[in-house]
Amino acid sequence: MPKLNVLNAVTGFKEAITIKDELAKTGSDFTDQKWATANTIAKLHPKRLTLEVSEVIEETETTKTFRLVSTGGALPPFQAGQYINLFVEIDGVETARPYAISSSSSQREYYDLTVKRVPDGFVTHYLLDNVEAGQQFLSTGPMGTFYHNPVFHGKDLIFLAGGSGIAPAMSMLKEVFDRELDYQFHFIYASSYVDDVIFIEELRTLAQQHQNFTLTEVISRPPENYQGLTGHLNAELIQNLVGDVKQKMFYVCGPTAFHDFCQSQLLDLGVPPRRVRIEANGPPKHPDQFSNWPEAISMNDEVTVTVKGKGSFKAKVGEPLLNSLERNGYSAENACRSGECSLCRVKLVSGEVFNPPEAHLRVSDQQFGWIHSCVAFPTEDVEIIL
Ligand SMILES: Cc1cc2nc3c(=O)[nH]c(=O)nc-3n(C[C@H](O)[C@H](O)[C@H](O)COP(=O)(O)OP(=O)(O)OC[C@H]3O[C@@H](n4cnc5c(N)ncnc54)[C@H](O)[C@@H]3O)c2cc1C
Ligand code: FES
Repeated sequence: MPKLNVLNAVTGFKEAITIKDELAKTGSDFTDQKWATANTIAKLHPKRLTLEVSEVIEETETTKTFRLVSTGGALPPFQAGQYINLFVEIDGVETARPYAISSSSSQREYYDLTVKRVPDGFVTHYLLDNVEAGQQFLSTGPMGTFYHNPVFHGKDLIFLAGGSGIAPAMSMLKEVFDRELDYQFHFIYASSYVDDVIFIEELRTLAQQHQNFTLTEVISRPPENYQGLTGHLNAELIQNLVGDVKQKMFYVCGPTAFHDFCQSQLLDLGVPPRRVRIEANGPPKHPDQFSNWPEAISMNDEVTVTVKGKGSFKAKVGEPLLNSLERNGYSAENACRSGECSLCRVKLVSGEVFNPPEAHLRVSDQQFGWIHSCVAFPTEDVEIIL
């Protein structure tokens, strides 16, 4: 009996073998193909995109959606749940902030970014108060690992979102409907106030139209006589809403305090960590909230940061090193600004920095003095190599 080659069942395999046999006869040094792979990768995963605001949509009093189109060529594909890092220049400071794409990944005419104002933030005020249609921005290509993996995550999805954490949920939800996926999607949305619930009309309409979509709204600071669910997403509430948690896949996205709390509640319910995906959706937590923060040091203490061979400046210990570098005219590549991607690594030559758990430093990084500047807080004078 002839040996069965399973590869013959792969589309294009036989054709590839025919081409290979042909090339074996005639020979080729493949110079004509030299940059083909690199060019294809660059198109799919560009380092930078130039985007133009085509529309600004007012969602709530504190939130706007910015619709961004490409100024040249098609936008690269992305996985629902991913983000882009948006570069801005404000008052001479070049910085960036990551924002999840809230539009559907099944169309590539535009990316929507849904931005919520952070009261004492730097970039959100600029975006919400100054940006108009026609303005252009540089950004990274889509990045991040917070998306549904059909092989491992199954079809029973629960999304817990707080505040602007709705942005990646919206993209995932639209993908489920656009591609008519046979998933169950239960979206549990926690907001502080009723008038700050983003996309609420659209969500309610979708919940009426699709049997596989359940919407639960939870308000933590309800007005008097409010009839809906109130409080925080604790283990009891989650259990009551979703029932048996075992076969379900949980996605959690919101401010750091929100996802820390939800994570602990899901652990209490016995959800295995591999069935919980978490995405930060806010600036890093104040470092003095961690139990191992050195007590004697106050967030407003000043230290000197020296950039080897380039200069030095004063910085507050409570400000991430990346932010103070940018404020003083230095730049480091960055994308997630939350300790995940390691693009902002700098080498610490001397002095101490506080690395919170989200810094995700590898053992070799710790051994050789590499730090993630986006979540590193200098607790004494430091010297770094940039
Ligand atoms: C992967 C990812 C996706 C995101 N997606 C979205 C999204 O879709 N929509 C959205 O609105 N936001 C999103 N964010 C949050 C966004 O990137 C910004 O953090 C947010 O817009 C605030 O920016 P800002 O410049 O206004 O605030 P910042 O100036 O960065 O500061 C905000 C607050 O944090 C404090 N702060 C700043 N740095 C520190 C520090 N080191 N220690 C303690 N406190 C500090 C400030 O005092 C202030 O209270 C996302 C974040 C991540 C990591
Ligand atoms: S920018 Fe991603 S780890 Fe710092």
